[in-house]
Amino acid sequence: MKDYPKYGVAEPTGDYFGGTWTEEKIAIFIKYCHAFLAIMKNRSYKLIYFDGFAGSGEIIPTNGVNPLESVALQVMAIDKPVSFDLYYLVELQKSKVKSLENLIIEKFPSKRSNTHIICEDCNSKIAALSAYLKKHSNYRALAFLDPFGMSVDFKSLESFKQIGCDMWILFPSGIGVNRMLMKREEAIPQSWYAKLEKVMGMTAVEIKKHFYKINPQTSMFEDGFRLQKQEDPINRIIELYSIKLKTIWDHVSKPHAMKNSNGSIMFHFLLVSQNQTAVKVADDIVKKYK
Ligand SMILES: C[S@@+](CC[C@H](N)C(=O)[O-])C[C@H]1O[C@@H](n2cnc3c(N)ncnc32)[C@H](O)[C@@H]1O
Repeated sequence: MKDYPKYGVAEPTGDYFGGTWTEEKIAIFIKYCHAFLAIMKNRSYKLIYFDGFAGSGEIIPTNGVNPLESVALQVMAIDKPVSFDLYYLVELQKSKVKSLENLIIEKFPSKRSNTHIICEDCNSKIAALSAYLKKHSNYRALAFLDPFGMSVDFKSLESFKQIGCDMWILFPSGIGVNRMLMKREEAIPQSWYAKLEKVMGMTAVEIKKHFYKINPQTSMFEDGFRLQKQEDPINRIIELYSIKLKTIWDHVSKPHAMKNSNGSIMFHFLLVSQNQTAVKVADDIVKKYK
């Protein structure tokens, strides 16, 4: 039997620089962050920055020189018009947590006491964030979910219904979901289906219904593969994911396609919010990167 990688995509272990989309993603997010703080400055809310995949503090380009500062550090550097009241940074790898903590102590010593650096799986902490916001109505949050691959379970997001949290999600539409949806439905291993169900928040039956069609070359009486992948799968994936997100958040921004140097879509980047203005701001920012 063929040996499949665990989730169809290998998770890089280093401080991986993803390519041109890395810089674009950071620029979009930091611009939004400034806009968010400008809107919030005259409101009485306490503000939380939540980073679900915080990294080590540094992003190393493939040539190894001139590392970029991680998003969490760039957000912590913002003080005008206001800064966040609380930083909640989650990272699964112990060594990265240590490196991030050292950099924060060095660069932002006065912010260390209002920064929580947690070494855990992001999914449990996303749920903890929504529980916290539910309990403390004087808080609002901006969250950034920047996984390498298929790490965000749809279930973790479901608790954000009616919660005041703007969330940017880097969704692995091309590099993850599309690669796992193989040409012929029968070839997908069960473990991949389980992962697809978790990430998309859909059952295997729904996935088959949305992404496969009967192969006209075969008939019901023939052996072989009856179901083949639909055309334009990546756009179908992100459309469907956006529809699912709209069952939780009132507004979803236009998903921004992030491509590699060959022009293939790797991810989509989008904002979800209960606030229409937030999504309008996001759409305006993203427009400049089309
Ligand atoms: C694309 S990198 C994030 C980069 C980061 N946003 C930055 O600006 O440097 C993804 C990070 O998530 C971590 N990670 C992977 N799975 C995770 C999980 N389930 N929960 C939390 N962190 C995870 C990886 O170790 C990696 O550092």
